[in-house]
Amino acid sequence: MKIYNFDKIIDRHNTNSLKYDYFKDFGYTEDHIPLWVADMDFSVIEEIKNAIYKINAVGVYGYTGITDNYYRTIAEWMYKRHNFKVEKEWHSITPGVVYALSAAVCAFTKQGESVIIQTPVYSPFYKVINNNGRKLVKNPLVYENGNYSVDYTDFENKIVENNVKLFILCNPHNPVGKVFTKEELIRICHICCKHKVIIASDEIHQDFIHEPYKHTVIANLNEKFEQCCVICTAPSKTFNIAGLKVSNVFIPNPDLKKIYDEELIRRGPSSVNTLGIAACIAAYKYGEPWLNQLKQYLKGNLDYVSSFINDYLPKIKLVNPQGTYLIWVDCKQMGLENKKLNSFFKDDAKLWLNPGDVFGPEGEGFQRINIATSRSILEKAMNRLKTAYDVLFYEKLENNQDETLI
Ligand SMILES: Cc1ncc(COP(=O)(O)O)c(C=O)c1O
Repeated sequence: MKIYNFDKIIDRHNTNSLKYDYFKDFGYTEDHIPLWVADMDFSVIEEIKNAIYKINAVGVYGYTGITDNYYRTIAEWMYKRHNFKVEKEWHSITPGVVYALSAAVCAFTKQGESVIIQTPVYSPFYKVINNNGRKLVKNPLVYENGNYSVDYTDFENKIVENNVKLFILCNPHNPVGKVFTKEELIRICHICCKHKVIIASDEIHQDFIHEPYKHTVIANLNEKFEQCCVICTAPSKTFNIAGLKVSNVFIPNPDLKKIYDEELIRRGPSSVNTLGIAACIAAYKYGEPWLNQLKQYLKGNLDYVSSFINDYLPKIKLVNPQGTYLIWVDCKQMGLENKKLNSFFKDDAKLWLNPGDVFGPEGEGFQRINIATSRSILEKAMNRLKTAYDVLFYEKLENNQDETLI
């Protein structure tokens, strides 16, 4: 069996990488360690590169069609990894999951109608609602003892009060790393079905679930729920091909599928991304051994960060990581006001993270860290964090400068 080397550091500078090359645009410097946007610092499998080389060898990038091989390959993955039996008739292709969500907002709601989300959440969720002139309704997740849960009463009340038409679920949840249990999803779907709310389920992180948690595709729960959902998936996070812009959407209800596809036609996509389609087939066909090893590596990264935080950063708490390669850390015990906290990570620790407040005000006091990088980079980042932390809590305190804390 081929062994993949995730320790290898790949220089991503000068590749137009959002993560590495755009530091100035985001107010950072070249010295900051970037652990922010959700892509990985690992090379893709050779089979993906070869699929792209093959097209490059021809050197013509004309309009591309979809073959049965494409549908079959994705269906096999969904069944094998998620026990989700998809039909070709359910399948739509979009240039990304955010695009797919925006299309769902426009397809299933009218101007001014309400869409509900569970905050803090991935910031484009806000944009696909607000920018399309819909009303944003929040059902904040409840944070207690290092875990997030759902306030079902609030969820149902908000749906009724605002006549909500669409719910955008994020499962696994970015940024809080929650993987919803079957029981939680049943309660959520039951409320949605009762009030005729369509569920757009963003499952882009579905292949990154930490043991012992299990991913549940909501369409698998029962036939009734299957008929009110839109399942959004992509090979982009799983196989590190976000720049190739392909995602796969499954809508089992033919009436909803028709409405959705009409919206896609209105948006005018005439074709798919030639390289993205080739990469998607290669990824799902040949990528499983790589993914299995990658997940082991990421587990090692998670264990490393988790122990480091426990041992050296007692005022920072890791929120129970259940899924995704993003970790969500609770820094409230550091006692810093939100702006100062963000500045501590950026200016003192010289780390480029996602400040929690970009996911909504419920994220204040938290930071999101992308651990999908080689261990040595992560070690360097953690050591920088420790140095800044020690200066703040030990050296300054020793010098009686604790007024800097607030
Ligand atoms: C929950 C979630 N949805 C969607 C996306 C982006 O998807 P795409 O690049 O396919 O639009 C991300 C990327 O981080 C994400 O975390």
